[in-house]
Amino acid sequence: MERFDGRVVALTGAASGVGRATAIRLAGEGARVAGLDIDEPGLAETAELAGGMATIRCDVARRDDCHAAIEQVVADHGRLDVFGNIAGIARSHHVPDVTEQDWDRMVAVNLSGVFWCAQAAIPHLLATEGVLLNIASNAGLIGQAYTVPYCATKGAVVNMTRALAMEYAKTGLRVNAIAPGGVQTPLVANYQMPDDVDYTLMAGYMGFRAMSQPEDIDGRLRLVPTTAPGPAGTVPDVDHPYVLGVDLDGVCGDYTTAFRTVAATELGVDEDRLPLERSWDFREWGLTPEEYERIHLLAVAEHRILRTMPVIDGAAEALWRLSDAGVWLRIITHRLYVNWSHAIAIADTVEWLDHHRIPYRDICFLGTKPEVEADLYLDDGPHNVEALRATGNRVVVFEAPYNRHLPGPRALDWSECEHLILVDAAEQGFSLQTQLPGLEPGTNRLPN
Ligand SMILES: NC(=O)c1ccc[n+]([C@@H]2O[C@H](COP(=O)([O-])OP(=O)(O)OC[C@H]3O[C@@H](n4cnc5c(N)ncnc54)[C@H](O)[C@@H]3O)[C@@H](O)[C@H]2O)c1
Repeated sequence: MERFDGRVVALTGAASGVGRATAIRLAGEGARVAGLDIDEPGLAETAELAGGMATIRCDVARRDDCHAAIEQVVADHGRLDVFGNIAGIARSHHVPDVTEQDWDRMVAVNLSGVFWCAQAAIPHLLATEGVLLNIASNAGLIGQAYTVPYCATKGAVVNMTRALAMEYAKTGLRVNAIAPGGVQTPLVANYQMPDDVDYTLMAGYMGFRAMSQPEDIDGRLRLVPTTAPGPAGTVPDVDHPYVLGVDLDGVCGDYTTAFRTVAATELGVDEDRLPLERSWDFREWGLTPEEYERIHLLAVAEHRILRTMPVIDGAAEALWRLSDAGVWLRIITHRLYVNWSHAIAIADTVEWLDHHRIPYRDICFLGTKPEVEADLYLDDGPHNVEALRATGNRVVVFEAPYNRHLPGPRALDWSECEHLILVDAAEQGFSLQTQLPGLEPGTNRLPN
């Protein structure tokens, strides 16, 4: 049974580039595909490559064409499960050279066309609890020189996607966009830069990486879930790496054990009197919030637990394997929680990370974790997990006695974390290259 068996998918722009690759991919996954485009020979070629596809000539700039084409798809196939707004044009100009005709055509194809097709497709997608997917662009997320009309239309598609997702939030319809960077297609091959451009204005966003291939983008169509519930109103920038937000205390470092030693000393009790099975507020240890604050400050500033805390088994090894596979590791920690010991907290944290050879690309010291952009978060703090999920983020809960009331996904240890992270990355369409079994990890990366 293929993922799209029995599903009907209609795509604009199916005669070329990303639309063609998507048609081939989804037909291969069992969908009945209808391609809509102004380029009829191109559509015929795609139909052949896809092993069969209905083709409909449609100029998306014309409202009547969009409505008629979508009615025809439903009349012929009886339903519509996925509609992909992929058709688009790109031109490059100096601003003074943009004619009224250039502007109107760009808006008509890239913006109005997306709306007319959405308008026509939505009643049918509501009936099947289907998916509307718009192809925006990185150019809709950042400003780019010499492509002002294109950027304007793509930025509008990004926000149209969010607005549609809001309007239909209580239905089974999901509306999302994806925002590719450069993709090697005829759109790019035929792209003409005007004379006298200042390339330094473009260097910042051109990047050093090779262009994507159209097949890389259709991989991200895994965002198209075939069963509810799924994401809605998201606009992932498909040119970015898979970012994992990793908490430290309780996830990489064993805070409870380290803090218990200090608390026992400060309270003058035996460690055994302070159970490791504890609530978030340490009520089993009889600590008031004020006492907790006082002992935590001592633990950080005098006992230096951020430098000496035991590492949680397997954390460094798993993080190295994930990093090797291409996961961008972003450490997010609330260790600046106590005033006037920030220098100690930061220095001890980075020393501890180095000492335990824990890899990371960047590190954020902040409490409001939803402000950090990551594709997936790994956390143990109930308030963090709840705040992240409330703002639409995916979180793997790292097992602890104080978070057992939270729903999963949940990892009991680092090998389970690693597995859940790789599954999530694959579900989001990221192709990570995991290490071949039997190969030694790099030398001297981990302490003996
Ligand atoms: N190639 C890139 O670098 C890149 C980057 C980001 C976003 N995109 C977006 O991806 C989408 C697909 O682009 P591509 O690179 O595959 O380009 P492409 O030129 O290969 O394909 C675009 C298709 O849209 C069709 N089309 C153009 N005007 C139309 C109209 N009025 N009505 C119906 N069909 C029409 C074309 O005939 C063509 O088949 C576009 O929306 C583009 O803006 C492309």
